[in-house]
Amino acid sequence: MMMIRVNMAVSLDGKIATADRQKMRLGGHADLRRMEELRAWADVIVVGAGTIRAEDPPFALTDTTLRRQRLDDGREEHPMVVVLTAGMHLERARVFSGPGRSAVATTDQAPDPGPGIPERVVIWRLGPDRVDVAKLVERIASEGFDRVLVEGGGGVASLFFEKELVDEIYLTLTPWLIGGDMAPGLADAGRLFDPPPTFHLASIEQVPVASVPEKSVQAGDPVEAGDPVQAGDPVEAGDPVQAGDPVQAGDPVEAGDPVQAGGSVLAGGTAREASLPGEADREEIFLIYRKGVRGE
Ligand SMILES: NC(=O)c1ccc[n+]([C@@H]2O[C@H](COP(=O)([O-])OP(=O)(O)OC[C@H]3O[C@@H](n4cnc5c(N)ncnc54)[C@H](OP(=O)(O)O)[C@@H]3O)[C@@H](O)[C@H]2O)c1
Repeated sequence: MMMIRVNMAVSLDGKIATADRQKMRLGGHADLRRMEELRAWADVIVVGAGTIRAEDPPFALTDTTLRRQRLDDGREEHPMVVVLTAGMHLERARVFSGPGRSAVATTDQAPDPGPGIPERVVIWRLGPDRVDVAKLVERIASEGFDRVLVEGGGGVASLFFEKELVDEIYLTLTPWLIGGDMAPGLADAGRLFDPPPTFHLASIEQVPVASVPEKSVQAGDPVEAGDPVQAGDPVEAGDPVQAGDPVQAGDPVEAGDPVQAGGSVLAGGTAREASLPGEADREEIFLIYRKGVRGE
């Protein structure tokens, strides 16, 4: 049976980003770990073009144990990623060059894919001028998949909320106030839900503050000399780290590249454990909400 989860980090005032919708890491290491586990659970990750343009996130699983477990279970090593867009304005994005499968879900009217979307990316046309999210779910099911993780942003999550397709919301409550009318929220539909979809609290967990990431950085991935990196985010195999991209301890980097949290990757030397006190100190609360009223 199809199970759809939404996973997002929110500020204390329910925002998922600042008003300029630029890349912003709200959660810390524990949130990244939870994201990795949810991705490992998923057959398919659904994400909006807005998030791809803002963050250009890599989606490949970095945890080799989780990848091996998927293969042992007869699943693909990495979840497939489906990017929603009507305009097709997508530059070369990491999602399309990762080791997992990817698709673009778009409209009948959308232009043909530009150079930013490689030929190996499957194009699904699922509605005249907007992607019909019910058709998208049907299309995903027709691939034999039944675990969907919606990673946002608020615009795409809203499509699923509006049609009452979301079974579970995984929220990471982070200790920031973002403020501002224009900063996007979890369900950024621009219109009210009527009736409002209802969820009940299934789990609450206060995340212990971790002072340093669990593992040291491994050899494997190319890192561009001089690129500043910070502890925090996964990089995908074969993907050069971009300037400003955070790196999580345990993520592979090329042998000999020392990684200093908050510092620079320099040629020569040995990979060291990354630590980033500012990020690691984040006090977070993990919440899981399930669809419907408790007991019904
Ligand atoms: N805190 C978190 O956990 C979290 C998670 C994810 C994202 N974010 C943040 O959220 C912000 C992005 O959110 P967002 O709401 O602006 O963007 P989004 O939801 O990621 O993407 C919106 C885009 O998706 C496409 N789209 C949406 N509905 C569609 C439909 N029915 N048919 C066809 N295409 C459709 C459109 O792309 P086109 O414009 O290409 O047509 C639309 O502009 C960024 O700041 C990002 O960093 C935060």
